Amino acid sequence: MIKDLQEQILQLKKEKDICILAHSYQAREIVEIADFTGDSFQLSVEAKKAQANTVLMCGVRFMAETVKILSPQKKVILANPLAGCPKAEQIEPEMVEYFKMKSPDHTVVAYINTTAELKTVCDVCVTSSSAVKIVKNLPNDNIIFLPDCNLGDYVSRQVPEKNIKLMQGGCPVHAAVNLTDLEKIKTLHPEALVLVHPECVPKVVEQADFVGSTSAIMDYAKKSDAKEFIIGTEISIVEHLQYTCRDKRFYPLSKKILCPNMKLTTLVDVYDAVEGSAGEVIELDENTIKKARICIDEMIRLG
Ligand code: 13P
Ligand code: SF4
Repeated sequence: MIKDLQEQILQLKKEKDICILAHSYQAREIVEIADFTGDSFQLSVEAKKAQANTVLMCGVRFMAETVKILSPQKKVILANPLAGCPKAEQIEPEMVEYFKMKSPDHTVVAYINTTAELKTVCDVCVTSSSAVKIVKNLPNDNIIFLPDCNLGDYVSRQVPEKNIKLMQGGCPVHAAVNLTDLEKIKTLHPEALVLVHPECVPKVVEQADFVGSTSAIMDYAKKSDAKEFIIGTEISIVEHLQYTCRDKRFYPLSKKILCPNMKLTTLVDVYDAVEGSAGEVIELDENTIKKARICIDEMIRLG
């Protein structure tokens, strides 16, 4: 059944010249039919390069918006219109405008997990894989980092020479795990290396053997000589790694790290979107695209 549906999707996407991009948090059966799977930064780079006239995003809304901003001439479809990211909506543009008025000497650094509208008032975007490098490379030492204070805290520790102010937002999924969860799983698997996403709380990040983006965690686990790993990011990464590295064992840091928004997209949604009966075509006005693009281009240039 799954194989039949996958074959129909592959056939339709070929006929209709559709490029399917999937975030690494998507389910295995979606990753299998995607043209490209990766973390937020890799997806934005691939979106820019994609030759197809239509791009179908299997991920959350801000990712589809990023594709549209980078390729306004393309038709960009979000496979499941309900798939949002609560973090992307935590800060209103007016809050940033107010801050800029009070502190005009600060550079506003926005995590890519933000709405297109918010990006229009920010100076540069970052992703979890590029944040440290970009913040280091910024000419200004005064920075406001939004919305994720856990990622921001991690960046501040890596770049102590900068004066970084944090806004108090974050990912409810990653921030839900605590030190007690980590201690519990470490007791069960004392030999396992702990790999975590910087969206986790600082107390968890401090205990990790490796901190990195979704793709960095996967690369690290694949290349490592170790045989057991505790994975502190969305639970689907455990499944993907276990599928690829059969000689190793992967354990979720906690079953709580499950993103309900990333899990909304199903293979049937992908089929319906490719076939043309579902999905949402992303529309952004010219002015939003023009302004939001400045900080995404800056991210690609500096990252
Ligand atoms: P990355 O894709 O940058 O690792 O971010 C994870 C995430 O939470 C995306 O929503
Ligand atoms: Fe948003 Fe967190 Fe889900 Fe990523 S994992 S889409 S940041 S809620």
